[in-house]
Amino acid sequence: MVKTVTGENYEVHDLSLAEKGQKRIDWARKHMPVLGQIREEFKKEQPLKGVKIGACLHCTKETAVLVTTLRDGGAEVFLCASNPLSTQDDVVAALTKEKNISVYAWHDMDNEGYYRSIANVITKKPQISIDDGCDLVTTLHKLKNGSKDPEIETVKKYGATADLMDNIWAGAEETTTGIIRLRAMAKDGALKYPVLATNDTPTKQEYDNLWGTGQSTIDGILRGTEELIASKVFVVSGYGHCGRGVAIRARGLGARVIITEIDPHAALTAVMEGFEVKPMTEAAKEGDIFCTATGCKGVIRLEHMETMKDGAVVSNTGHFSVEVDVVALEKAAVKHEEIKHMVDRYTMKNGKSIIVLAGGRLVNLALATGHAAEVMDLSFSDQALAAEYITKNKNDLKAKGGVVVDIPDDIDIKVATLKCKALGINLDKLTPEQEKYLSGWSEGTA
Ligand SMILES: NC(=O)c1ccc[n+]([C@@H]2O[C@H](COP(=O)([O-])OP(=O)(O)OC[C@H]3O[C@@H](n4cnc5c(N)ncnc54)[C@H](O)[C@@H]3O)[C@@H](O)[C@H]2O)c1
Repeated sequence: MVKTVTGENYEVHDLSLAEKGQKRIDWARKHMPVLGQIREEFKKEQPLKGVKIGACLHCTKETAVLVTTLRDGGAEVFLCASNPLSTQDDVVAALTKEKNISVYAWHDMDNEGYYRSIANVITKKPQISIDDGCDLVTTLHKLKNGSKDPEIETVKKYGATADLMDNIWAGAEETTTGIIRLRAMAKDGALKYPVLATNDTPTKQEYDNLWGTGQSTIDGILRGTEELIASKVFVVSGYGHCGRGVAIRARGLGARVIITEIDPHAALTAVMEGFEVKPMTEAAKEGDIFCTATGCKGVIRLEHMETMKDGAVVSNTGHFSVEVDVVALEKAAVKHEEIKHMVDRYTMKNGKSIIVLAGGRLVNLALATGHAAEVMDLSFSDQALAAEYITKNKNDLKAKGGVVVDIPDDIDIKVATLKCKALGINLDKLTPEQEKYLSGWSEGTA
């Protein structure tokens, strides 16, 4: 079990890492100009004055830039991890020194520590929830409906009570899997407060999921394996936003890329973009490196791993650790060795071995440091403006009840426009004639 230190407003691994963490936060801040501009506006206007925000996010240097921005806008922020492996210990150590920010997170948390940290956020009575994967929202809802799940018993043990959900005005969700869970809750009538779908806004989905995941996933696989990608057969499961990014980057490094899909449109897109598409039963036999990016469970199962090449590398970049059935592999293996931190070799009865990266958890955040700051600049600007929007519109939003709400277009356009400016990208402007043409219907074949 990882040792932690606790104080009035924190539980982290090692406070002595704070100086290193602060340098990395400052580095990220330099690469997040849009969030920097929003921070300046927030400092002046204080749109979040007195608001309590509970955030369950990957605790990276970029997240530190987000939470300090929210704080500078007047909020009090309570942060916990959204994954047991994604916390950067130096970053959270640095955050303990910040006024009006509480942080409960460390790398390699056990289940009890993970839910104790969520409880530490819930008991501070947040009015806005910001999630990456929906664990804060579902914990609040399960508490409210009297669930007897072991995780709920843990949060109760640390003081969380059912009534605390009543303080929440609305939430914002960062990732695809969280949105899937929220829509399922809304459909069942289980969702009790509105949540903004930050993930679905173009400035998030088309950059963070695609290019952010593309680069950082390859980074995680390289740090884990130290292998050459060129000449390898690289199998990517799921050709959605994340999978497409991973496939494009793997091809760029010289791999022959095979896609597995369940959706005919996604499969066609992959083929049109020059990739092979095969079912996993076939791809399993050919691949050297595998990466799942589906948001689905049991994508790579024991029956697939049994047919893989000796030494095949298996990883996942989808939100939860259910895409690769590591549990079944563990049970079936005759030998398990840790090669190095987060890299395990399982030898099977047939004598072949499988290398599993990060125990099947998010490989880009567990083995590498997540997305580049330049990409998180967009996603976290969306999140900062979502928090401002919730605060300004809390009564209207509360009246909507348990629904998933789109981020207003003007937020998305503002973030994209500021990013273009920061990158020195100059756009053309529609002439009045063009505007009239695009909004009319009378001009046709001349
Ligand atoms: N690693 C990261 O940093 C990161 C970043 C953003 C999102 N995510 C997560 O990655 C996952 C994918 O997100 P996305 O935005 O790409 O979603 P998406 O909906 O755009 O794409 C998912 C794709 O997977 C396919 N799929 C579903 N089940 C499948 C199966 N059993 N076999 C093969 N293909 C299957 C779907 O048809 C779809 O094309 C989610 O869990 C999301 O939360 C991770």
